[in-house]
Amino acid sequence: MKKILTGVKPTGDQMHLGNLLGAVLPFKKLAEKNDSAIFIADLHALTSVKSAEDLKRNTHEMALTYFSIFGIDTPVHIFRQSDIPLIPKLNWILNNVTPYSLMLRAHSFKDSLFNDALQKQKEWERNAGKETANEFNKKYKNHPFNDDNEISSQVDSIYAEQFKKVPILNMGVFNYPILMAADILAYDTDIVPVGQDQKQHLEMTRDIAKAFNKTYKTDIFKLPTEYIEKDVATLPGIDGRKMSKSYGNFIGLFDDDKTLKKKVMSIVTDSKGVDDIKNPDECNVFALIRTFATPVRVESIRAKYLAPGYGYGHAKLELLEILTEYLKPYHDARAMLEKNPELIEAKLQEGARIMNARIEAKMQKVKEVVGL
Ligand code: TRP
Repeated sequence: MKKILTGVKPTGDQMHLGNLLGAVLPFKKLAEKNDSAIFIADLHALTSVKSAEDLKRNTHEMALTYFSIFGIDTPVHIFRQSDIPLIPKLNWILNNVTPYSLMLRAHSFKDSLFNDALQKQKEWERNAGKETANEFNKKYKNHPFNDDNEISSQVDSIYAEQFKKVPILNMGVFNYPILMAADILAYDTDIVPVGQDQKQHLEMTRDIAKAFNKTYKTDIFKLPTEYIEKDVATLPGIDGRKMSKSYGNFIGLFDDDKTLKKKVMSIVTDSKGVDDIKNPDECNVFALIRTFATPVRVESIRAKYLAPGYGYGHAKLELLEILTEYLKPYHDARAMLEKNPELIEAKLQEGARIMNARIEAKMQKVKEVVGL
């Protein structure tokens, strides 16, 4: 049995069917066969969520979502990152073996840096017209991202001023990978299921673990491996492109009946009429039917595409029925949990108790090693 851990940031995004099939259900399958935990990374969310109300709502929403999918009695420990007080402590200890230059290479940080510069540029363009914008371009646009020495002084000069305004690029963003390393290393995690975008953070986690082990001539931290789900069938969204939150073309796991119907009826198709023969394998509606219907039903609908008298409207209504049925257990579970917020809280606490016990044992050893 492997120790498996992953975290999700409560940023307020709704879960959609693409996330469910591409990431969450594969994780669930793997998790249930191992010693697994999933946590709500509310400390990480602080880098971008700046309202207590939002953070609480997002965190609760995420707990509701995961317990609805995993079941309230899941063997997978579900917990809140901020309920583990030793994580920030381990974070601090790890800060002191982490090279500054390693953090400068983080994509997450460089993206924020770039977005910040871009935002600043737009602001200047708006306020001061093109001339100032050109000035800005000359000065800042060509960040020597690849030059670690130069970047630090640039960061200071560009952002000293901006910090007074919108601190998107805050120290939390910079330290993000070290906090993540603490999350992972605290529990002797073997495998970390993540999306492709987190691969670099796992590499950094291993670098940080190695740096600690080397500094203190120990092997106390285990080197974790990322697990990135490959060959995930991409689900089309209602506009036919890959279903994604950024395209806004998704079907939400918890969309209500009305929203679901509206979305299904607006799935893009070609303009063939009711009596035209249609190619199911080129149809977005059928792609979803194929994913969610039973094989028998898929075959029967395929036959209807290949015969006259069956229009896309008919197919959409069948898809609506199929999805409604597919989603029902999730919706029922959620409705039950919504009525019992104290049950969710109790479960989160139970998860935290188990994980706290693990990290306490680990931190005893870490403290000895570093002399605290
Ligand atoms: N950084 C991850 C994300 O944005 C969330 C996360 C935080 C995480 N700590 C983690 C994932 C530890 C895996 C393990 O998706």
